[in-house]
Amino acid sequence: MPGSLFISNMLPDEARALIPAHITVDYHASELPLAKGELMGRLQGKDALICHIISKIDDDVLARAPGLKIVANVAVGYDNIDVAAARRHGVIVTNTPDVLTETTADFAWALLMAAARRVVEADAYARSGQWTSWKWSLLWGGDIHGKTLGVLGFGRIGRAVARRALGFGMRVLYHDEVRADPATERDLHATYTDRKTILREADFVSVHTPLLPATRHLIDEAALRSMKRTAILVNAARGPIVDEAALARALGEGWIAGAGLDVFEEEPKIHAGLVSAKNVVLAPHIGSASVDTRIAMGTLAVRNCLAVLEGKPPITPV
Ligand code: GLV
Repeated sequence: MPGSLFISNMLPDEARALIPAHITVDYHASELPLAKGELMGRLQGKDALICHIISKIDDDVLARAPGLKIVANVAVGYDNIDVAAARRHGVIVTNTPDVLTETTADFAWALLMAAARRVVEADAYARSGQWTSWKWSLLWGGDIHGKTLGVLGFGRIGRAVARRALGFGMRVLYHDEVRADPATERDLHATYTDRKTILREADFVSVHTPLLPATRHLIDEAALRSMKRTAILVNAARGPIVDEAALARALGEGWIAGAGLDVFEEEPKIHAGLVSAKNVVLAPHIGSASVDTRIAMGTLAVRNCLAVLEGKPPITPV
C-alpha cells in the first residue's frame, strides 16, 4: 500500500533502511527542531510522521494535517504530543517503550554514582594541574552501597533502576500511583511506601514518573526541604517534575548534598544556579543515547508507522 512519511529530524540509517520503496519519504536530516509553520507545511499530504521530543505536536498541527494517520514519537515520554487532540483527529500516537528501559536506567545510575562520588569534580581536578601530591582529604563523597534508594514512579525504568540497587546491597523504597505486585516487590526487594517517607528516609531519590499535571513540580521546595541533608536527587525523567529554582537553592544552601540531572524545565536552557553549582552533575538529555538503543528506538518508530500504513494495529500505541 503506498503512503507518505515525514521524518522531522535525524533518524538512524538502520531504521530508515526498513522503509519499503513504495513509501515516499520526506526526511529532514537535521538535529534542529522545525519552526511550527514549516512543520505544518511539510506535513501536508503526509500519512505518517516520525518525530522526536523537540517537535510539539499540538491541536493546531494536527488540525492542519487532515490525512495524517500516525504520529510515531521516538521516545518513551510523549508530553510533546497532545494525545487527546490526536484522538479527536483520529490520529494514532505511538512511543518507544521497552527498548530504552535498561539504557535509561544505566544512565540514571551513572548520574547517581557520579554525583555521590564527585566524578565530574574529580575529572576537572585531575586535568587541572592542581594535583601535585596524593591527598587524604581530597574529594570525599558519599557511599552508595548499603544506603537507601527511593524510587518515585515504579514503571519500567523505575523498576530497572531499583533492580540495579540489588547489586549495591541497598534498601529500596518506592512509590507509584499503582502498587507493584508482590512477586515484583519480592524480586526487587522493594518496599512500597508513601512519597513523604521516601523523601525523609532515602539517601538517593530517583524520579521516574511521566510528566503529567499531577507530577509537575512533584519535587518542589517542600519536598527538597524534607530530604536528608546528605541526600542526592536524580532526575532522568522530565525536567518540569523538579522545581529547578527550588533545587538550585537546595543545592546552594545545603538542604540536600547533590543532584544528577539529565533533564531540565526549559531545555536546552539550564537554570543559572545549577550551572554554577559544583554539587550537581548535568547532562544534556542523553538518558537513552547509546548506539544500540538509539537504533532500536528509530527502528520501533518505523515499524509502528509501517504497521499503521499497512492497516494493522500499531506495535506500541500510547
Ligand atoms: C526520552 O526522553 C524519552 O522519553 O524517551
